[in-house]
Amino acid sequence: MPSAFLHPFAKPSRETFTTITHGKGALVWDDTGHEMIDAMASLWYCNIGHGRGDMADAIAAQVRAVAAYSCFDPFTNAPADHLAEKIADLAPIDDARVFFGSSGSEAIDTAMKLARLAHVRNGQPQRRLIISRRRGYHGTNYGGTSAQGLPLNKEGYGTLLDDVVQVPSDDVEALSVLMSERSDEVAAVLTEPLQGAAGVYPPGDGYLAETRRLCDQHGALLIFDEVITGFGRLGTWFAAEHYDVTPDMITFAKGVTSGYLPLGGVIVGRAVSDALESDPDFMLRHGYTYSGHPTSCAAALKNIEILEQHKLLKAAVGMGYRLERGLRAIADDGGIDHVRGEVAVFGVGLREDQNAMEIRDRMIGRGVITRAIGTDTLTYCPPLVTTDAQVDRIVDVLAEAVA
Ligand SMILES: Cc1ncc(COP(=O)(O)O)c(C=O)c1O
Repeated sequence: MPSAFLHPFAKPSRETFTTITHGKGALVWDDTGHEMIDAMASLWYCNIGHGRGDMADAIAAQVRAVAAYSCFDPFTNAPADHLAEKIADLAPIDDARVFFGSSGSEAIDTAMKLARLAHVRNGQPQRRLIISRRRGYHGTNYGGTSAQGLPLNKEGYGTLLDDVVQVPSDDVEALSVLMSERSDEVAAVLTEPLQGAAGVYPPGDGYLAETRRLCDQHGALLIFDEVITGFGRLGTWFAAEHYDVTPDMITFAKGVTSGYLPLGGVIVGRAVSDALESDPDFMLRHGYTYSGHPTSCAAALKNIEILEQHKLLKAAVGMGYRLERGLRAIADDGGIDHVRGEVAVFGVGLREDQNAMEIRDRMIGRGVITRAIGTDTLTYCPPLVTTDAQVDRIVDVLAEAVA
């Protein structure tokens, strides 16, 4: 009999799962005492590592003061105010404002709604088309389900959102043709700068800059989904800096708290906030019960402080370099087909005779957690505090598992 817990992204008939009991830095343990290096930072989020006492203290202090209070008009709280200011300062978008929710999926729905709403406020209600990319992953609410480019995740949920269309990844021509055909209907282009959950695919050369140019040409907004890349994964606060392309909105979640508490949101540039602010009587009828949740925001402030104090963005570059060198050596020896990725996030493309799920299970048995995507990809996204010895072990265990 399956347990009462209906698991996310799992077979509902599955009866047994691995019970994680605790973690420290890049390590986690299960209830049999098996120690594993968490080479996926759980699910692409635990940038500062597990089990930090200073995070526990920051969270406890806020819970004692006031754990939660609504931010709907007329209320606010200091952690939410400070966090919005901090994120606006870190963001590569001038005069940014920050909207909060509790997850990446809520961030995506928010960004899609704000894009359409901004055009309505600017007198162009026909601009409803949202263009995203095949292979993109934007979460599982109806907005993100409509926008994602992974067909299996869209099956069985009825009619998805109208006017949300996917183009082939990295195909500037396809994007350009669609935008020209529907020039005055486009609300936004929504894209992960580096496609993560599909198996780690960095953008083609110049793709993002050209997308920015097309958005400017056709009056569309550019949304970067940085739920994985935000807060240090590419050695910068945001991928927008790494690729030197400035979007109009950035969605974030995961790394903003390293997962210690759920939080997500949207960094909103002037092109959107000008439209929303232009009429002082206009009311934004969008928000979540936990928008600006003080304890989640206090966790994010502490997480950002830890990233800064321990120079973890710089550490990402060093850690990733060592990991990439090791993975590429295995590819050079023919142990795997190829390596994709950048800085501190990688996908390993397997040979046709290999099976990702089997190799993943063998690696977990040997004490390294990776993620299998389909049958041909394993992904790596270790905490930014992973030590050299742990990185070497991740590489050795992959080499053993594919031998
Ligand atoms: C790029 C991207 N966008 C959105 C999401 C959805 O985030 P959440 O699972 O927090 O709703 C994810 C989750 O992996 C993601 O990788």
